Amino acid sequence: MDDIPTPALQSNAVITGIGSYVPEHILSNADLEKLVDTSDEWIVQRTGIRERRIASEQQFASHLCAAAVYNMMERYPVSVHDVDYVIVATSTPDATFPSTAALVSDRLGIASCGAVDIQAACAGFAAALQLANGLLLSGAYRKILVIGAETLSKITDYTDRTTCILFGDGASAFLLEAAAGSRKGDILAAYADTDGALGHHIYRNQLAPFIGEHELNDSGFIVQNGREVYRWALSQVSKGIEVMLARAGLAPGQIDWFIPHSANMRIIEGLSERTGFASEQTLSSIERYGNTSAASIPLALDEAVKAGRIQQGHTLLLYGFGGGLTQAGVLIRWSLQNTR
Ligand code: UT7
Repeated sequence: MDDIPTPALQSNAVITGIGSYVPEHILSNADLEKLVDTSDEWIVQRTGIRERRIASEQQFASHLCAAAVYNMMERYPVSVHDVDYVIVATSTPDATFPSTAALVSDRLGIASCGAVDIQAACAGFAAALQLANGLLLSGAYRKILVIGAETLSKITDYTDRTTCILFGDGASAFLLEAAAGSRKGDILAAYADTDGALGHHIYRNQLAPFIGEHELNDSGFIVQNGREVYRWALSQVSKGIEVMLARAGLAPGQIDWFIPHSANMRIIEGLSERTGFASEQTLSSIERYGNTSAASIPLALDEAVKAGRIQQGHTLLLYGFGGGLTQAGVLIRWSLQNTR
């Protein structure tokens, strides 16, 4: 769009490729009806989810990441051997250490690079893009892989009907490169906010038995107070989106695509309504993939790229939110030419 003011954020990060991967195995609502006391009707009405993908026993986040990058290399004329940094946003790393990013660098045969995982739950992908933008802008790095990947099925309790209907697995990757010459970058604005006092409403316990005064369940599975997260999302995330738009000097009508984290269709609709985005402007990956946390935004984005809906010059607002409770947004001008 031509009437966009120039926001304050500096960027020389140009997106030069995107790719995605989801595991083959589909877990449908009908399958879940056999596991817990639920129904397709309840799940669709309350969440908008019809099915999700489940990684095999041998597939971990690093496998999904590498597959997403291979998909990118099939679709775009890019190579990754000279990538100098890999950032993986995930809440389900293969191991606490080594980082999933380090495992991915090895799987892809990258000769020499920095490698870090970042953990910002469902805000992870937007947060990783913000960090990559800063690293490129510093001049220290030229080519960065940013990947959102989750194998949430491995930390989901399939006897708990309040959580097992929600989560799924998948990965999506962006390649970001420093723009040559005076060309401006694709990242136009960024925003983040955290309410750490509410962290106990959604967590997966690892070491500490408490968050603040709240004793944690140590099952190793995702635990959430869905109603509280829902309440926070509609009240605080909608505020965050408004602050971000105000700082960028933009109205929702000046943005082509709003891509919030695919937590739940009702949350997405509530956020769109409260912040002034039309449903036709809003993209999600919830129906076919469920809540894939750090992967949900790039999966929705890539589906729209493949369908030819997102076009060169479009303005995209990516907005993640969840565990923390934290939120992060990135405004992008899409400059990548569609391939297939
Ligand atoms: O990624 C970001 C983090 N997570 C989220 O964004 C999740 C946010 N929260 C949500 O998406 C919703 O709160 C849920 C989808 C998890 C739950 O929907 P809800 O409309 O908030 O349901 P509820 O927790 O208020 O439960 C309503 C009823 C309860 O029964 P009673 O107590 O009214 O008899 C639940 O036991 O629905 C029951 N229920 C179910 N019934 C059938 C809960 N889960 C199920 C189920 N099938 N799977």
